[in-house]
Amino acid sequence: MAKILGAIGTSHVPAIGVAVDRGIEDTPYWKDLFAAYVPVREWINENKPDIAVLFYNDHGLEMFLDKKPTFSIGCADEYHNADEGWGIKPIPPLTGETDLSWHIVNYLIENEFDPTVCQDIKVDHGATVPMSVLYPGHTYKGTKVIPIAINCERHPMPKPSRSYAFGKAIGDAIRSWDSDQTVVVLGTGGLSHQLDGERAGYLNTEFDQMCMDKLVTDPESLTHYTNDELTEIAGAQGVELAMWLAMRGACSGPVDELVNVLIAPISNTAAGVQLLVPKD
Ligand code: DHB
Ligand code: FE
Repeated sequence: MAKILGAIGTSHVPAIGVAVDRGIEDTPYWKDLFAAYVPVREWINENKPDIAVLFYNDHGLEMFLDKKPTFSIGCADEYHNADEGWGIKPIPPLTGETDLSWHIVNYLIENEFDPTVCQDIKVDHGATVPMSVLYPGHTYKGTKVIPIAINCERHPMPKPSRSYAFGKAIGDAIRSWDSDQTVVVLGTGGLSHQLDGERAGYLNTEFDQMCMDKLVTDPESLTHYTNDELTEIAGAQGVELAMWLAMRGACSGPVDELVNVLIAPISNTAAGVQLLVPKD
């Protein structure tokens, strides 16, 4: 059966991807954040997971307000990046893993989740930035990716408890896949931030640190928040915690924490980097 080797939480702030592309990781603004990625990159290099199951949110590039699936699963051979307003960035596409995608879809439908199936979809910075950061020089070509989007833009959004349960079901699906391939689960986005409105620039690092710690010891305690409460406490885009909850849900049982770093601000966001490894 397939095995989940580890889970990584990371913000997907577009400026992080730009910093990688410009080779300015060692400059004063960026160096602490990129120091946090060093052990995560090392872990990836040592463990070489075959597949990255990547929870992200589509920021309106493919799924705009007029069509907004609550949960959707990529079932394509390849995922090109969307034009985010500055022309198509010349980065390699992500390679899909359709056998596992369809296994997850079928498993979910049998287990009380009904996701949208996306056989032709472009991905945005929610997926491309974490892959570029974790695989510097766009060396992710040999790693297959399954992008899974959670609606974080348009109300009504899935409750945090549902995103956690969704991740749990996907973890169960992966562990029931008849394959010897290995998987890393990525939860991208967050942590606290608000990009527009009166509270633009709002951060709450105390809450973020509490969330990162509880993701290790007591993730269920985070599922009691409503999205309105998260918006109040962590900013309008703080609801991107959904992807971290799904990531942790996929791990199922207890985990060892190898990395837990929070740096703020990075662009408009409190940027978290976390590496969790399921205990056997
Ligand atoms: C920023 C953060 C995000 O999560 C995002 O999707 C876009 C921008 C930011 O902090 O700039
Ligand atoms: Fe975002």
